[in-house]
Amino acid sequence: MSSSRDIVVAFDLYGTLLSTDSIAKKLSEHFGQDKATIIATAWRKYQLEYTWRLNSMNQFEPFSKITHRSLKNALSESRVSLEEEDQNELMKAYDSLSTFPDVKPALTALASVPGITAAVFSNGTQSMVSNSVNHSPDLAPHANTFQQIIVVEECKKFKPAPEVYEMLAQKMGKSKEKMTEMWLVSGNPFDIVGAKSAGMQAAWVDRAGNGWQDELLGGDEGRPTAIVKSLGEVVDAVKKHADRLQHS
Ligand code: LAC
Repeated sequence: MSSSRDIVVAFDLYGTLLSTDSIAKKLSEHFGQDKATIIATAWRKYQLEYTWRLNSMNQFEPFSKITHRSLKNALSESRVSLEEEDQNELMKAYDSLSTFPDVKPALTALASVPGITAAVFSNGTQSMVSNSVNHSPDLAPHANTFQQIIVVEECKKFKPAPEVYEMLAQKMGKSKEKMTEMWLVSGNPFDIVGAKSAGMQAAWVDRAGNGWQDELLGGDEGRPTAIVKSLGEVVDAVKKHADRLQHS
């Protein structure tokens, strides 16, 4: 169980624990490698764009529906089509995406770190995220590392609306004043900026080593608290930050 003194570390799912690029393999069975990569990239782009557009329009649809509709958008943009049955197969594959290679060792190490409570925090529906965490061959062995799976459905908003980060804090037993004891770990810059703007700490996973490029807010609020090259560096970054605060 977490105690109120624990630091909460919430892991984003898609693009952080799970690689959305791994769906390209499944798409390549239909379209060949090159086109599959283009479709997979467009699929992810529209999936996120749809969530932001719905937020702006004060509307909400389950992420599973958005994921399916953005697939259709990506397919038509590439001027290809797929039978509904094959589309459903792809949607099923979305529930068993591969983890990035640094995930397994990082979660194994995290399980024995005292003072940190881990959670999964995602735009995905409860059913999509539970399927991935509890049944995917890569993540299931680590399901116990996460004290909770928290999804945005209840809020009827997607990241980066502040309400979703506030709901995360509330579910993890942290008052609004304790937002600074909450960390988001994400490979998605828009998620990092959303969490920072809501008052959380945020570790950006820069696996490609491209450096921070997002200029939306500028200044400290618009930058991650820490940048890590792999998930294995997260615990150190969280501890160093806590030490710095204690000695300042
Ligand atoms: C998620 C999206 C941001 O898992 O990938 O919430």
